[in-house]
Amino acid sequence: MTTYASLEWRDGVLRMLDQRYIPHRIEYLDLRDQHEVAEAIREMVVRGAPAIGATAAYGLVLAAQRSSAHDVAALRRDLMEAAELLRAARPTAVNLGWAVERVLDRATDPKLEDVDALRAAVLQEAQAIAEEDEQTNRQMGLHALPLIPQEARFIHHCNTGSLATVAYGTALGIIRTAHEHGKAKHVFVDETRPRFQGSRLTAWELEQLGIPYTIIMDSASGHVMRTLGVDLCVVGCDRVARNGDTANKIGTYNLAVVARAHNVPFYVAAPTSTIDLTMSNGNLIVIEERPAREVTHVGDEHITMDGARVANPAFDITPAAFITAIVTEMGIAYPPYDESLPRLVALAEERRTR
Ligand code: MRU
Repeated sequence: MTTYASLEWRDGVLRMLDQRYIPHRIEYLDLRDQHEVAEAIREMVVRGAPAIGATAAYGLVLAAQRSSAHDVAALRRDLMEAAELLRAARPTAVNLGWAVERVLDRATDPKLEDVDALRAAVLQEAQAIAEEDEQTNRQMGLHALPLIPQEARFIHHCNTGSLATVAYGTALGIIRTAHEHGKAKHVFVDETRPRFQGSRLTAWELEQLGIPYTIIMDSASGHVMRTLGVDLCVVGCDRVARNGDTANKIGTYNLAVVARAHNVPFYVAAPTSTIDLTMSNGNLIVIEERPAREVTHVGDEHITMDGARVANPAFDITPAAFITAIVTEMGIAYPPYDESLPRLVALAEERRTR
């Protein structure tokens, strides 16, 4: 069983498992204000769309606690400022803006008449976001079960497990549920260049869960499908546009194309918090460009010549046409996604406000 948590709220401090050092060192960082939280998101101490969202929500809690404001209007102004800082930390995962917006919404409730009540409400909302996450992930796992054959052989990209969420995981949560129901035979783990979320983090989680796995290079997926056999690909996402185009870790698009060429179903696990109905298609999604050093170096070793030109897009867009279905906590969306996704998002909203 897993004994780690990606983040934990402890007596006014946000304790983060520092994912930069896993699997070789288990270190925790205590974050005490919104600046430290924004830095932790930028530097990928924490990563994965749902985990980033929950972390940013606690960033606002810390901002509220540190603020010296004596009236609600001043405290709300400080929260707005902190929200700007947190939103700018990473651009692609919609969960970041979604969680910040949700806490701000709560903070603007006119019934909150003094700063203590406002601070308590902000904490309560952040805790609700964190608590809902595990439930959401478990529901996705159960919805996906009928899609999974017996003795299933998966390919998974990046890391979408407990580390990428508050608990349980999205795409890895689906694999986990399949395992709990005796359906998961093997997981091929894309290493996920350049930061190795697959070989470092996903393999570490699968090892602890007792799920059989093999790490493969990202470029090996075609060969593995052709020679060993793969039943399905399951990946997470950072933002899903209204038409189903999906932003996820760089390499996801390549995997989807190879899956199509081999008639392997390609599923996206998407909590409704990752669906952005304001974007009509994937061309509108901002793709984060990360430092060249992530490509020129492996660890501390410089592997390219000095001055080599590098592009390092952290995500790509998989066109909806390559996606067999999108699994949400409210059920499964099939094409046409611009009809099925809004329906499931509306259901989630209805449930939350009931
Ligand atoms: O750059 P990262 O590690 O934050 O990218 C993470 C991914 O691309 C995940 O697949 C996605 O956020 C879903 S996590 C449940």
